Amino acid sequence: MRLIKRFASYYKPHIWLFILDMTCAFFISASDLVFPMVTRNVINNVIPNKEFNLIYRFAILLAIMYFGRMILEYIVGYYGHVLGVNIEYDMRKDAFAHLQKLSMNYYDNTKTGYIMSRVVNDLNEIAEVAHHGPEDLFLSIIRIIGTFILLLTIDVRLTLVVFTIIPFMFIYMYIYNNKFEVIWKNVRETQAQMNATLEESITGIRVVKSFVREKFEKLKFDNKSSMYKSARSKAVKHIGIFDSSVNFLSNISVVITLAAGGYFISKGLINTGDLVAYIIYISQFLQPLTVLLRFVEQYQQGMAGFRRFVELMDTEPEIADKKGAIELKDVKGNIEFDNVTFSYDNKKEVLSGINLKIKHGETVAIVGPSGAGKTTLLSLIPRFYEIDAGSIKIDGIDIRDVKLSSLRENIGIVQQDVFLFSGTIKENISYGKLDASDEEIINAAKAANAHDFIMELKDGYDTYIGERGVKLSGGQKQRISIARMFLKNPPILILDEATSSLDNKSESIIQQSIDNLSKNRTTLIIAHRLGTIRNAKRIIVLTENGIEEEGTHEELMNRKGVYYNLYNYQQENLTIV
Ligand SMILES: Nc1ncnc2c1ncn2[C@@H]1O[C@H](COP(=O)(O)OP(=O)(O)O)[C@@H](O)[C@H]1O
Ligand SMILES: [Mg+2]
Repeated sequence: MRLIKRFASYYKPHIWLFILDMTCAFFISASDLVFPMVTRNVINNVIPNKEFNLIYRFAILLAIMYFGRMILEYIVGYYGHVLGVNIEYDMRKDAFAHLQKLSMNYYDNTKTGYIMSRVVNDLNEIAEVAHHGPEDLFLSIIRIIGTFILLLTIDVRLTLVVFTIIPFMFIYMYIYNNKFEVIWKNVRETQAQMNATLEESITGIRVVKSFVREKFEKLKFDNKSSMYKSARSKAVKHIGIFDSSVNFLSNISVVITLAAGGYFISKGLINTGDLVAYIIYISQFLQPLTVLLRFVEQYQQGMAGFRRFVELMDTEPEIADKKGAIELKDVKGNIEFDNVTFSYDNKKEVLSGINLKIKHGETVAIVGPSGAGKTTLLSLIPRFYEIDAGSIKIDGIDIRDVKLSSLRENIGIVQQDVFLFSGTIKENISYGKLDASDEEIINAAKAANAHDFIMELKDGYDTYIGERGVKLSGGQKQRISIARMFLKNPPILILDEATSSLDNKSESIIQQSIDNLSKNRTTLIIAHRLGTIRNAKRIIVLTENGIEEEGTHEELMNRKGVYYNLYNYQQENLTIV
């Protein structure tokens, strides 16, 4: 019921369209009730009294009525679908807006294909129900009740006999309705799984090809695809059973009418015209029943999608602005970790009791073995994840007290894997500042040592870079992401192994642009190759035990501790290579 209420709320903005649709639907079903009554009148009165010109008059009136009905049917067919499409659009818009709000945690645990499936397929089904659902339900109920009342006026007893079958039909539909709920849920679920597998195989196509795992991927996909097939087959089978048995029941009601009507005529309780009207009504009755049946099927199909939509909309973003959150303004860039404890799953603590103070304008390098929690530590500053205990402050203000948008506007992150959007180089650089002028973009590119290589490309700044920038080298992508950062111009900069995957030549070019970028900003650098941060004034060594050492390169070497070992290990391995 709550679900239906929620569903109904989507009609609100289109209430007039909905009323128009329903009003037309009402007149369409009312017009169905007219014909048998006219026939009855013709047989009972017109023919015995030989008033044949009345027939022509009836014919003309009926023709006019059907013409009007044609227009109404056009309105229902067209505007009804417009209504459905509008509702689908609204829901999709809401879903996307909500997805933008959800926290990293949600995306860590949800497959992209699942989300695609919800936003694309599920909502598609909903559009159909949104339009046909209320209309079908309304139409068929009007017709069933209308027929019942009209037949009562002819003969109460025969009507009751004929309608005995109706309650059974409704019970049957009700039972099947519940069955369809499970069936369609399964269809939606398997479809989402299939989409997720598809999405993963396509995204990972380079890995697939390089491992020659096409066959393996085919099997994996086929597995999901056949699960979807079975779910659908099951649904179709039950639609078949349902359709045919409801049709059987309604045919039986025609038989009952004929038999009972014959009996009533033989007893002189009704006349021929009445029986003809009964038979026409009852056989017409099949129509609203089939419509109702289609409704039952479609309703569950759509509701399975809607349920999943609601589930998505009800997923609260774990991290959101608190009430009265303030705008973080004029950031200097002092960062303070005070006894910070964090775990991804509330079980295994990745960081515990971290204390760290970084002054504005300072450049701090963070090193340590892989898996120690370096990336995690820095992703807490833009509040991608919520800490379990302690606090993180920027310029003395707890980051939980400020608006997320203002916090993140002030922090720039350059990662090892650069994500670029499909589009041109210019579009990707201006992602850092959407209203940047061409001049600003070029200046940023120059500062990032990217201008020269961009000018060598076929279309310069207007070159298309392919999905995720596949048409660029790793070093080129990184320089674009740095240019983007120059435009964003944040007071706090985080560099997470920005040069780790690059060869020495690219690395030194990028190192130069990074040095430019970090001027006058608080900069935190996670470095894999210790050589690149030798000159840092402050190096922090993070291990599984937390912050183990801190100092300059010389100080740490003299300590002969973790850093010393790490450094020597790398030097040895470098000489081997
Ligand atoms: N999104 C995540 N969800 C759950 N666990 C994670 C996630 N990211 C990292 N971890 C775990 O947290 C620990 C620290 O990871 P990370 O911060 O990436 O280390 P580093 O950057 O120092 O190599 C690792 O044990 C890793 O498995
Ligand atoms: Mg890392």
